[in-house]
Amino acid sequence: MRRINQLRTQVAIVGGGPSGLLLSQLLHVQGIDSIVIERKTKDYVLGRIRAGVLERGLVALMEEAGCADRMHAEGIIHDGTLISFGQEMFRVDFADLTGHSVMVYGQTEVTRDLYAAREAAGGRIVCEAEDVVIEGADTDAPTVSYAVQGARQAITCDFIAGCDGFHGVSRKTIPDHLRQEFEKVYPYGWLGILSETPPVNHELIYANSERGFALCSQRNANLSRYYIQCSMSDHVDNWSDEAFWDELKKRIPSDQADTLITGPSIEKSIAPLRSFVTEPMQWGRLFLCGDAAHIVPPTGAKGLNTAASDVHYLYHALRMFYGEGSENGLNTYSQKALLRVWKAERFSWWFSNLMHSYPDHTAFDHKMQIAELEFLRSNRAAQMAMAENYVGLPY
Ligand code: APR
Ligand code: PHB
Repeated sequence: MRRINQLRTQVAIVGGGPSGLLLSQLLHVQGIDSIVIERKTKDYVLGRIRAGVLERGLVALMEEAGCADRMHAEGIIHDGTLISFGQEMFRVDFADLTGHSVMVYGQTEVTRDLYAAREAAGGRIVCEAEDVVIEGADTDAPTVSYAVQGARQAITCDFIAGCDGFHGVSRKTIPDHLRQEFEKVYPYGWLGILSETPPVNHELIYANSERGFALCSQRNANLSRYYIQCSMSDHVDNWSDEAFWDELKKRIPSDQADTLITGPSIEKSIAPLRSFVTEPMQWGRLFLCGDAAHIVPPTGAKGLNTAASDVHYLYHALRMFYGEGSENGLNTYSQKALLRVWKAERFSWWFSNLMHSYPDHTAFDHKMQIAELEFLRSNRAAQMAMAENYVGLPY
């Protein structure tokens, strides 16, 4: 029987995506030790294409983690967004309505900055960890074990942060009879492309059209991200670049379509859309963060940002425990995190319903969408409600 190597840390973090890395770096800044256990290689993690709109809260967390320099140098501040329906288009002015903006900066870059900070600080990140097993989460001596190149390793710790995404082991470690899951699957997907072309507009365009939703987003002055709503059964091989561009142009106002600069896609993929929440987000000394606990449709760009709010609550709870010996934050983590999770779920669900076409929509339903868009266009209170959610509700 091969001897199991034993490691010790204060917080074992399962998952080396943005949630896990952000928590690890924040804890490091406070002198709290952690080990990140990641299933994939660093290059694989950094190869994921994800959304790129950061709420003010996440910007502040990156600053607190000492990882904000490149974001401030390369990120783009957006004071508002454009919403179109048919040939109509209007702007929601976040800065005027809320006093806040959002930062356009790819999640891949956030993750890259966090990896760099962990490595610069000598942080312990175990990559290519296989068969991760969480044990004793409901005791005061939890462990995380895994295999690397066939050698079994075990980590004893005070707490475990389950930051391993929707397909990870953490959520499933909480006994089924203690968990309740809530899910909604949307009857469409998003076909997205990345192209080395200038964005069609300096701000994002969320487009409601009778042909389906479209989104014109960006990463920088010469890297654009576009999406069109597609059927759940669609396949990326059905879409040539030319077909994509033609369809996108039909879904945005013609004055925008006429100036759209197209080019070859450097990434093209289809993502399904769902809303999902598991309750509670903790069990004993195991705390779930991010996609391990909840999923949102990308319409409101809330995936990464809601992961960040979970990290905020857990980070402060752990600071209170190690700094003041108080368990209050830990005991109320799930309750606090879920309050904000459900508000993000609601906004993402509301915005998805407002902007997409639905196979079972009647003519009346379509009229309701247009009436709500006209109300949003003409009513400051409606725009303030949207803007407050988009820039990020307070933690
Ligand atoms: N053991 C170790 N690591 C695992 C395991 C496991 N059993 N299962 C998954 N992982 C890793 C994944 O490889 C991934 O790198 O956990 C990480 C989870 O990262 P994400 O899925 O990105 O989730 P999170 O860090 O919560 O970030 C949420 O990412 O997926 C997007 O839309 C989502 O923007 C949101 C953000
Ligand atoms: C993106 O840039 O990928 C993006 C932006 C805003 C969204 C969703 C995705 O709401």
